[in-house]
Amino acid sequence: MKTILIFVSTLNGKITKWGNPKIRSWSSQEDQDYFDRIWNETRVIIMGKTTYMADPVKPDSKHLFIVMTRQPEKYQLKELAGKIEFTSEVPSHLINRFETEQEDKILIVGGAQIATLFLKEQLIDELWLTIEPKIFGNGAGFVINGNFDIGLKLISCERVNDQGTLITKYMVIRAEQSLKPAN
Ligand SMILES: NC(=O)c1ccc[n+]([C@@H]2O[C@H](COP(=O)([O-])OP(=O)(O)OC[C@H]3O[C@@H](n4cnc5c(N)ncnc54)[C@H](OP(=O)(O)O)[C@@H]3O)[C@@H](O)[C@H]2O)c1
Repeated sequence: MKTILIFVSTLNGKITKWGNPKIRSWSSQEDQDYFDRIWNETRVIIMGKTTYMADPVKPDSKHLFIVMTRQPEKYQLKELAGKIEFTSEVPSHLINRFETEQEDKILIVGGAQIATLFLKEQLIDELWLTIEPKIFGNGAGFVINGNFDIGLKLISCERVNDQGTLITKYMVIRAEQSLKPAN
């Protein structure tokens, strides 16, 4: 099973424009179509509470949405078994839960706090990053501040429109992999 972190970002790494949490106001149609396709083909989707609040997902029969919050008891009325859960489970337990359930991949769709949590614990296998040819001044980055250094290796990069939106996929190099001697 692969754990995939997916984001759309500007060239300078912003995932929100100014204070606006609505991503589709600036992301390209090509990225939106790509994201919708990935979303539709993945059952388990994990997000932070703030990302959920920005655009609350509607429970459906195709997905299990997992919303991370330190206060899951506040959202009990929104829970629907097998469709949407609110949890304070630690990330490694969450991932282990799905290792045994024959998922081919799970998606982490942000935001920055949740991305950083999973990246720092080395629980992400791949980063699927769409880079829009834009630069925003104010806006959130896709990780929060901290002293970490995560190595990546490019798997693929596709230009999907005239403007030059790039859909990229990177593999995360885990600490033990980067220590292996080259053959
Ligand atoms: N461009 C993109 O691709 C993209 C993708 C996703 C999101 N976004 C944007 O990013 C913004 C949200 O990002 P964000 O970093 O502010 O928030 P976030 O990561 O979506 O959620 C943060 C919340 O997650 C919960 N949380 C944090 N650490 C936790 C832990 N260890 N255990 C359990 N729960 C934990 C906390 O909820 P409680 O306060 O309830 O405890 C915290 O307030 C939104 O504006 C959204 O639109 C952009």
